[in-house]
Amino acid sequence: MAENAPATLREQAMSQAQGAMALQVAFIGVTNGLFAALAEHGPATPGELAQAASMDPDYVARWVDAAYAFGYLAETGAGDGDRLALTDAGQGFAGKPASGPLPFAVHSLLGAHMSERTAHFMRTGERPGEEVLGERETIAGLFGTMLEGMFGPVFEDQILPDLPVYKEMDAAGGTAVDLGCGNGWYLRRLARAYPHLKGIGLDLFDDAIAEAQSRAEAAGTADRLEFRKGDMHAYAVTEPVDLIAMNRALHHVWDEKDRVFAFLRDNLTEGGAAVIWEPNWPGDRAALADPKRRGMAFQNLMEHVQGNHFLSADAIAAEFEKVGMRPEIHLYAEGNEAVVVGRK
Ligand SMILES: C[S@@+](CC[C@H](N)C(=O)[O-])C[C@H]1O[C@@H](n2cnc3c(N)ncnc32)[C@H](O)[C@@H]1O
Repeated sequence: MAENAPATLREQAMSQAQGAMALQVAFIGVTNGLFAALAEHGPATPGELAQAASMDPDYVARWVDAAYAFGYLAETGAGDGDRLALTDAGQGFAGKPASGPLPFAVHSLLGAHMSERTAHFMRTGERPGEEVLGERETIAGLFGTMLEGMFGPVFEDQILPDLPVYKEMDAAGGTAVDLGCGNGWYLRRLARAYPHLKGIGLDLFDDAIAEAQSRAEAAGTADRLEFRKGDMHAYAVTEPVDLIAMNRALHHVWDEKDRVFAFLRDNLTEGGAAVIWEPNWPGDRAALADPKRRGMAFQNLMEHVQGNHFLSADAIAAEFEKVGMRPEIHLYAEGNEAVVVGRK
């Protein structure tokens, strides 16, 4: 092929397939602790790696070949037996999820699982709900880590320094509730940034609550944070609170929005705020073709299986107005993330 000649559709597809394979190989290493074991113990033979990670040696031997092929591992050279070490690319998957590529490896596998389910249920129109997300235990265990890695940086770099509402709540020594809190990363970051703020996280799933509690303990924020089981359909915090946050959670209960917005208003103190963060679904289809919004279009397709769909910032603001709260729309990540604050 002449240099600069356009890739054929077949070549383009082959290159996309290689990208998917690279993330799939990485996912196996992430979910089974292989990158982490190499980062901790240093160069290892496949057998030593299998032992360090408590995995089957024959599977690990083949994974090592694939990880080498995709540039995650390098041979350490003569005199060191068959030992392999992490390359910089491999090191990236051993590091903290918030700063590296790890969440995208998890997202790639979750996307494959959900795509298969979408293809299946499209035949009948069935929409089984949230449980489809958790069907693959190797993926489900990394769901919270994936979300934290994808959205923690946007929160810390853009939203946290920009929204005055957190600082106000902190000055008043207030309490924040996070509905659908997942692994609790949002409250952990709030507690770290604001030393007087207290938090209560609620989620429907026991595994999320257990993870949120243990991560808060590890982060030294457990004295001000509490995580409990709770259904967003039946808000169960009895005391009035100063802030109620919902991050990528409102679209899960949009079919009951009248009830949800009424309980947001009724359970906030006077002057309190509901802070709702959702992907900002654009008004026109052409906007979805922008590479920065393609992921949102893909995600919205996956949401359908779960019985959900994405929302526009204006639609959320309109619901605040209906219950007599004052909405403010704040846009981040080039307009793709919307935080709608409703003041009581
Ligand atoms: C997309 S995740 C977002 C998690 C977290 N807020 C974050 O930003 O990482 C949606 C969360 O809502 C929780 N959820 C879904 N339906 C719920 C319900 N009815 N009551 C409480 N939590 C629910 C899920 O378990 C999941 O943790």
